[in-house]
Amino acid sequence: MKLEDKLIAMEGGDSLFESKLRDLKFPVSSVFKSEGKLTPCSFKEGETLKVKNDAKRFPNSEKSHDNKILKGVQDGTIESLRKKVAVLFSGGPAPGGHNVLCGLYDLLKNNHELIGVRGGPGGLLRGDFFPIDQSSILNIKNSGGFDFLGTDRTKIKSEEQFKAVLSQCKKEDVNAIVVIGGDDSNTNSAFLAERLFHEGIQVIGVPKTIDGDMQFPPYLPITFGFDSATKVYAEMTGNILKDSESSLKYWHFIKLMGRSASHVALEVALQTKPTMALITEEIRRRKITLYELIEQMVALIIERAERGVYHGVILVPEGLFEAFDDVKKLIELLTEEFFKEKISEEEAKRSRSRGPFSERSAERKEARESFFNFASNVMAKKHFEKKHEELLSRLPDGFLDFLSQTDSHGNIELSKIPTETLLIELLENRLKEEPKKLPFSPLSHFFGYEGRCGAPSMFDLIYSYHLGLGAASLILSGKTGFMVGMGNLSGDFEPYGIPISALLAKEMRHGKEELVIEKSLVDLKSPAFLYFERQRNKWAKERCHNSPGPIQYREKCYEIPHSVALNEGYKDIVFEIKSS
Ligand code: FBP
Repeated sequence: MKLEDKLIAMEGGDSLFESKLRDLKFPVSSVFKSEGKLTPCSFKEGETLKVKNDAKRFPNSEKSHDNKILKGVQDGTIESLRKKVAVLFSGGPAPGGHNVLCGLYDLLKNNHELIGVRGGPGGLLRGDFFPIDQSSILNIKNSGGFDFLGTDRTKIKSEEQFKAVLSQCKKEDVNAIVVIGGDDSNTNSAFLAERLFHEGIQVIGVPKTIDGDMQFPPYLPITFGFDSATKVYAEMTGNILKDSESSLKYWHFIKLMGRSASHVALEVALQTKPTMALITEEIRRRKITLYELIEQMVALIIERAERGVYHGVILVPEGLFEAFDDVKKLIELLTEEFFKEKISEEEAKRSRSRGPFSERSAERKEARESFFNFASNVMAKKHFEKKHEELLSRLPDGFLDFLSQTDSHGNIELSKIPTETLLIELLENRLKEEPKKLPFSPLSHFFGYEGRCGAPSMFDLIYSYHLGLGAASLILSGKTGFMVGMGNLSGDFEPYGIPISALLAKEMRHGKEELVIEKSLVDLKSPAFLYFERQRNKWAKERCHNSPGPIQYREKCYEIPHSVALNEGYKDIVFEIKSS
């Protein structure tokens, strides 16, 4: 074959790397094995969860699961009527999603049917189903991304939407739905399970998010995707640290995805040892203001400059701006009033979905002016505190552009706020005030989307396959309203069923109280944070940086996230599954 033809043959997912990856073999935990064959596990009841809401909105689910954790046990005898299972992705992609499908398929393929839903929850509403067969499973095995099915962030919560799902499932004879999603998506799964209970349609959630903000240890110490994404970011951060120590002239500001939680930033810091890593939860807890933080950074830059060091690497979590009390208050007041007074509900809905400050420049300019005028009016009316007025006047222009953009779940679209460049702008302005001119050459980076769809790490591809096996087992055991969990991540993985409705708690979203799965934030008393806290001053002063290396050397990398190993009290960062 000519070289050109060889290259053409690689198009569409057949690069040398992608082809090799498909053949990668990995061990399966003994709970899913019987006489050497892959089998579903069965479940026995465990601990009763303390319910976090008193709303009694889930009478059917509660009657069926009694808020009890289910523990998977080896079986080999499970018998179930033939089921047709529809599976969908929901929310942002996370490496390992395709292996969840592989796990589901491998347990369902003989006596049951697995179908895919294209384009996330939106596709479920449209009834966009298609059959999943052996050849597509072999093709997607061990690959990153959600591109086999696609995903979206449609929120399924209204009665009209429930009816649409029901009618599509009836049309297609679907008996069970598997939703692979984050906290918001699993919240939706709880409502859907409750609504479809008497229709005999099961709903099972599979927890995913690279943000790491859905944790229920010991039943779910971490979601799939977190390990791969942080390994990709740690590799890139390690490279930047090396560049910074080599070229000796740049201050790098790296924003890392993770919404309001800083698990990603903490994990990347633990793996790479940067000059400084900001943790949103700490800033919030210690009530550090934006300008106090700028002063801390200035002190670090000056201290290093005095030693002749004019470079460094600072990790900035995505949700940083939400952490400052004063900025948060300002955001809330301004956006709330903006939506309430300036535009009608209908208009607000439309502008929220495309963002009121769209890319079209005339409209953008006008919108920004109107927002600024509006802000001054609100301030005049509400007699804003002096500190808010001052804050507003000092915030860089670009910042306000992003304030009122939210997704359909009401989350501010943090990935679009250029936190890293805004920090640089504030720092540059502040450093001009210094009596002695300092060399300060900053560069900004945003590591986000490139980690969400990377090839799964060894940990994630094994873990997510097991989650697929766990989800199939819950379905074949006739369960509904559960999310699959996985414990003992340092050894033979142990599957669990977690009753989702028991996890919901009240939260304010857009001024309205809603029941949602509470986000797990970085615990400042956790072993992982305390270890980071003990080490970070040394990292700021000495050359401690690590270059954890590319994820591609995966056969050698049976490694779990350091924060998970520390928090779970494991003895090592290396994991081992004994049975295969
Ligand atoms: P999920 O919570 O759905 O897993 O998504 C996580 C995430 O990657 C965040 O870190 C980021 O803020 C967000 O998605 C970006 O969303 P979008 O895909 O809509 O740009």
